[in-house]
Amino acid sequence: MKHKLQDTLQLATMAGVPILLTGEAGTGKSESVVMVAKELGYTLHSLSVGEQTTKTDILGFMDATGTYRSTGFRKAFEGGGVFLLDEIDAGNPNVLLAINSGISNGFIEFPDTVVHSHETFRLIATANTFGTGAGIKYVGRNKLDLATLNRFAVLHWTLDEELEAELCTDSQWLRVIHEARKLASDVDELMIGMRNTLQGVKLLDIGLPIETVFDMVITKGLDEDIAAILKPAIEKYTQETVRIGSQVVVTDPEHKLLGKTGYVSDIHMSGKYEIKVGATYGLIAEEYLWVIGSVEEVV
Ligand SMILES: Nc1ncnc2c1ncn2[C@@H]1O[C@H](COP(=O)(O)OP(=O)(O)OP(=O)(O)O)[C@@H](O)[C@H]1O
Ligand SMILES: [Mg+2]
Repeated sequence: MKHKLQDTLQLATMAGVPILLTGEAGTGKSESVVMVAKELGYTLHSLSVGEQTTKTDILGFMDATGTYRSTGFRKAFEGGGVFLLDEIDAGNPNVLLAINSGISNGFIEFPDTVVHSHETFRLIATANTFGTGAGIKYVGRNKLDLATLNRFAVLHWTLDEELEAELCTDSQWLRVIHEARKLASDVDELMIGMRNTLQGVKLLDIGLPIETVFDMVITKGLDEDIAAILKPAIEKYTQETVRIGSQVVVTDPEHKLLGKTGYVSDIHMSGKYEIKVGATYGLIAEEYLWVIGSVEEVV
């Protein structure tokens, strides 16, 4: 199953334009590059960029015996294939200057010799930011050198929810993910990507309870108050069945009664709940009301 932008990426790769894939964590950027290389029958070399990455990791070096030590980049540049420069914004921007001339002039001075790029050399980079430096979510990220940024055509890789739905084999988990994502949308530092979804599926498959899985892949490492915002997404599935008199809270962010507590006054044949909130409001609830506990003695 392909991401909705997969064909665009493939065509751009065939065109031979260096591409920068930008997008939030876990939307499938790296995977899409693997798929393109496979589809086009190109060898794939890659380098995951980090704080410790140096020019040597890209250009190679001459060892003590005078022998050139090659790199994945050199192999792709000289012999052809796709080179994936993963998480380009996580490293020192100066390191990337090493490849600038290779991109624009078609040759690079490696430590041993000058090499011209192979006709099938293709460069694809990925980044979580637009190369504009750290945001709230991606604190370790550096500003990309403008000269470098300018050499790439940018394709913004968004989460493809249809692809996710196709890959997520547990429909209950997918609903929890959707609810959690809705709740997360107002919180800047939160992003629930496809990686979280698919990790969850694996953990559920081996029989871990859904609450445990939720903690392991969704609220992991979050401050308690932020985790609390997401908790209703899982609580919905761990509470007992809704009965007349069950207490509920409106969690639909669009609803004017958001956050208000009410109780189930009737259950319709259709399975929808009739809710009373205060003395005046009555509403019909489906998805957006979540049980927070049952109260025996309401009215
Ligand atoms: N088309 C696809 N088919 C099957 N699995 C996919 C597909 N696209 C992505 N995935 C899976 O989704 C998860 C996240 O994808 P990936 O690691 O490529 O995201 P990313 O955007 O590179 O994230 P990050 O920015 O954190 O590096 C991985 O487990 C990957 O295998
Ligand atoms: Mg990646």
